[in-house]
Amino acid sequence: MVARRLADESVQPAEFAFTNDNVQWAEKRIALFPAGRQQSAVIPLLMRAQEQEGWVSRAAIEKIAQMLDMPYIRVLEVATFYTQFQLQPVGTRAHIQVCGTTPCMLRGAEDLRAVCQQKIHPEAHHTNEDGTLSWEEVECLGACVNAPMVAIFQDTYEDLTPERLEEIIDAFAAGKGDTITPGTQIERHNSAAIGGRTTLIEEPTATREKFVPPAPAEEVPAAAATPAQAPAQSPTPTTAAKPKDVTAESAPAIKEPSRRAKVSQATAESERRQVNVEARANGTPNAAMREGAVGSEAEGGKFDTGKAPGKRVRSEPVEGGTSAGTRKSSPVKVRKADPKEVSPTADRGALTPLFAMPEGAGDDLKLLSGVGPVIERKLNALGITQYAQIAKFRKADIARVDEVLNFKGRLERDEWVKQAKALAKGGVEEYRKVFGRDPR
Ligand code: FES
Repeated sequence: MVARRLADESVQPAEFAFTNDNVQWAEKRIALFPAGRQQSAVIPLLMRAQEQEGWVSRAAIEKIAQMLDMPYIRVLEVATFYTQFQLQPVGTRAHIQVCGTTPCMLRGAEDLRAVCQQKIHPEAHHTNEDGTLSWEEVECLGACVNAPMVAIFQDTYEDLTPERLEEIIDAFAAGKGDTITPGTQIERHNSAAIGGRTTLIEEPTATREKFVPPAPAEEVPAAAATPAQAPAQSPTPTTAAKPKDVTAESAPAIKEPSRRAKVSQATAESERRQVNVEARANGTPNAAMREGAVGSEAEGGKFDTGKAPGKRVRSEPVEGGTSAGTRKSSPVKVRKADPKEVSPTADRGALTPLFAMPEGAGDDLKLLSGVGPVIERKLNALGITQYAQIAKFRKADIARVDEVLNFKGRLERDEWVKQAKALAKGGVEEYRKVFGRDPR
């Protein structure tokens, strides 16, 4: 990989602007991301600029940085990192990307490259004299089975010979690129074997019977399920009637659970998983997790929860002290609930407010380190909706929130008060000034 740099100043345009259609498209694209995360649109916007102009200029990078409120250097980093972005002007009618990776190389990619050098320019990333064509060598484009191949803009041309590539280049140079059908350039169906199928080609033999799917099972009344009541079998079945499957007929009909029952089972299971995920995240297994765990009482064992969660411990004490290979077992320790420890799942949706909820719209508390949608809901339930409230927290407030949410000091560790002060004072900008990074 060579260093990727912006094109020479002599070819850089003084300014860049998206077309009206592209401005509207960009606004919609940016709006897809949550507040404060608009920078995520940087790659789509760079691609759109390239589709509009054919390449990515310095002016386009500056414009996109301004649209996304990003430092110029951050957008430049993205544009120069990904080789999909063309940093030099490309041919106005075709930019030919020749795959040079092993399968294509073994099948003649070097000859294709020689054609480009001879017909366009001896060096990659240079246009021909009238600026209509350019070429470059790229890594695998995912059409290896039809190697060798080239890509021109968004289409691939496969199974190429040097002669066929010359014809394709001539067609694009004459502005007739749309007369060439993309894909394989030989008699082949997509990426199937050349010349058609080589397996599964024989006709079915006479002795092979056609598969007949079984008829849907009929519900049999329970009374008819006993063998005594099963209809007597004719010893010689006629050709008109198929022999009946007595086993299937006499078996009791198994009713499928109704759709409603399935939905309610799925909902209950999904809720149980959500509860477990939250409990694990907070380091406090809930009752349901303990019951279902290996070694739980429900499974016939008990936890030594003080030392090795999940390890099965005998519940019967060993008599007679220690002996070879036997250690005196201490009585099983059953973990008692600490009245101070409030399980985050136990108070799910039932937290008692600690603070008077302020008037006005709430802030996006998820900008604070370690706060996701679940923690934000819990904070809201405690009456905390704005940065300004957290910014004024005293030690006692921090301790109360920490204890109720079982955070074990996270508020202080993550400097919530300092973060909230910055966000309350000047939003994301102020946060960046104070912390030298984006929130979260
Ligand atoms: S190696 Fe050329 S397309 Fe994969």
